[in-house]
Amino acid sequence: MIVDINAARAAAEQSIANASTIDELRQLDTELLGKKSPLALLKNGLGKLPTVDEKKEAGQALNEAMSAVEFTLAQRRALLGRAERNVQLSAEALDLTEHFAAPGRGKSHIVTQAWQRLEDVFVGLGFQVAEGPEVETDWYNFEALNMPPSHPARSMHDTFYVDHGQPGSTVLRTHTSPVQIRVMQNVAPPIYMIMPGRVFRNETTDATHLAVFHQIEGLVIDRGITLADLAGTIEAFTQAFFGAGFTSRLRPSYFPFTEPSAEFDIRTPKGDWLELGGCGMVHPNVLRAGGLDPEEWSGFAFGFGIDRMAKERHGVGDVREMYTNDIRFIEQF
Ligand code: DAH
Repeated sequence: MIVDINAARAAAEQSIANASTIDELRQLDTELLGKKSPLALLKNGLGKLPTVDEKKEAGQALNEAMSAVEFTLAQRRALLGRAERNVQLSAEALDLTEHFAAPGRGKSHIVTQAWQRLEDVFVGLGFQVAEGPEVETDWYNFEALNMPPSHPARSMHDTFYVDHGQPGSTVLRTHTSPVQIRVMQNVAPPIYMIMPGRVFRNETTDATHLAVFHQIEGLVIDRGITLADLAGTIEAFTQAFFGAGFTSRLRPSYFPFTEPSAEFDIRTPKGDWLELGGCGMVHPNVLRAGGLDPEEWSGFAFGFGIDRMAKERHGVGDVREMYTNDIRFIEQF
């Protein structure tokens, strides 16, 4: 009997090993462990064994054989289950990469490009970069820049007022010059800084004017700074930014916050003059507003439009084009 049991167990284990699908295993489960299985039939024959000892021995061997077959079945089922799942997973897998294969590559807006290049060039000349708030007080935007309430130059700035605090006390900054005051108040000289940012003017937009645009301000404060340093810096910037064939000139002008004041122009290699911005020696009142002693410190400042710069550089006819977000326009640069 023991021989038969071992033979039946070996045969059962062999057929389990041969099974290659879960379905086959399900069938084998009944065939090998069901009522008509070889092991079950052997169990039925237990009663016919002559002695109690033999019955006991054979009974034990049968139980062991049954558990062994059950265990082998479970093991094989787990193995085949994993394999079938893997096959199914790889068959159903979605290759999502194809949807991202060729995304349109984005790029910076031309004004951002000009802004970044300006920063690069000035950083290369030894300047640091600072930024100030877009919502300013009347004091920073005008008064500290030597424009008291009655000053006629205020009317040149068509100001957007913000409904905050005393009426007329809070503005959207009309230029980046107020950042000069904030820098002087917070940084001990020597100061070599540029201050790019967004500015606002309450005016009708046209091909050369926007109500929201960008400026970059420069401020140098040190001992013994002269107009020659200003002219030299403008010239060094011109060549670094535009190229060796370009030069610059200063034309006398007026700004409340500088004395003397000038406008600076750039000469292209073809000989055309391009008006770029304003500049001058920082007015003593402005130094005082920034907390500096005009007897000890002197400096120069300059400011110009970044959008203008991008417009000229790329030959854009109408500045408004730059803000329509028409992809056909944006893609060109
Ligand atoms: N803030 C002036 C403007 O918006 C530009 C400017 C002129 C800035 C002369 C300066 C300067 O720093 O010195 O028109």
